[in-house]
Amino acid sequence: MHLHRYEKIWLLFGVSMLVVFLIVLGVGAFAQGAQPPGQQHSGHGAQRETVNPETVESTAPFNQLGLKKIGENEYDAYMLAFAFGYGPEKMEIPLGATVHFHITSKDVVHGFEIPGTNVNMMVVPGEITQMTYKFTKAGELLVLCNEYCGIAHEMMQTRIIVK
Ligand code: CUA
Repeated sequence: MHLHRYEKIWLLFGVSMLVVFLIVLGVGAFAQGAQPPGQQHSGHGAQRETVNPETVESTAPFNQLGLKKIGENEYDAYMLAFAFGYGPEKMEIPLGATVHFHITSKDVVHGFEIPGTNVNMMVVPGEITQMTYKFTKAGELLVLCNEYCGIAHEMMQTRIIVK
């Protein structure tokens, strides 16, 4: 096949652009894949770390569930979700306390929602979901699971008492 000089130039140009495009795509995909795992899907200020769901109950800090004081009316709350409930069974939080929740699941995906607040987390086995909330109203708060997790999903709940 005989090609004119200009046709050759255009063909070469077209092929070069395709190669450049593929390289850009490849580099982009690599850059995304190379993100540290803890930084992925962290929306709404939530951060995630990992933990082995099979041994989580004997792994610090999840071997001692509940509130841990870390400052002036500031606490870490370590919690575990499971089919069908939460540990610890009941939690008392001092009024006005800032609480940093660290919660994980030992079996399937659960939810952790406190109706009437902006606390709404997805609890995934193997990941520690974290969120901070300041409890400024006294009273009893319901914690609900909002991810379908099995036969007793509707019954899965716990209570937080703020006083
Ligand atoms: Cu746990 Cu639904």
